Amino acid sequence: MGVATRRFIENPTEVFMISQDATIRDIAVERPGATAVFRRHKIDFCGNGGASLSQAALQRGLPVSELQAELDDLTADHGDLPTDPESLISHIITRYHDVHMAELPEALRLARRVEAVHRAKADCPHGLADHLALISDELQGHQHKEEAALFPMMRQGGAPMIRLPIARMLAEHVDVVEQLDELARLTTDFTPPQGACTTWRALYEMCRKLDEDLREHMHIENNILFPKFV
Ligand SMILES: [Fe+2]
Ligand SMILES: [Fe+2]
Repeated sequence: MGVATRRFIENPTEVFMISQDATIRDIAVERPGATAVFRRHKIDFCGNGGASLSQAALQRGLPVSELQAELDDLTADHGDLPTDPESLISHIITRYHDVHMAELPEALRLARRVEAVHRAKADCPHGLADHLALISDELQGHQHKEEAALFPMMRQGGAPMIRLPIARMLAEHVDVVEQLDELARLTTDFTPPQGACTTWRALYEMCRKLDEDLREHMHIENNILFPKFV
């Protein structure tokens, strides 16, 4: 079911507005740019995307009309996400898997430096480097399973037992969401303290990007790629 309901305004131009009953997951898939709106309001679109827009607004204490207005303002341009599984898989690997693996070591290096140099400060993000190392290790294993087992199966058109590896990947994505929540906690929502040095600010910006990229990555897998096979 589509996320939009049709409404008529004067003169008589047709516009489309998001239904309050549409699920966050469907809106994220069908309304380009919606994920950025959800991220801004801390609405989970890759893990618990089954909530309706009105439920999500209630949970966050937001007027649903405000959310609807923001979503309705988004452009109709859907970007260039490929639709066929083969191209989508290639996109996921080059845009997300490879990028995470290229950026995580640098974030880890910066975190070790910040924790060493500023260890005596009250707002030093103690434990951030270890947490980034954990994210990196687990993500490496997760992505390897996708690239070595699940994606090749998909490239061959799928198989009845593909539900099992997909279920496993979905469960691992839930773990990643928890790791990202902890990353946000350690970095006070990616906000460096006043007067933080350039390294500290750069580190938090890298963590913010990692959070955005990983949530988009899991959203594309959970809500666009995997449903093509189950
Ligand atoms: Fe992936
Ligand atoms: Fe994944």
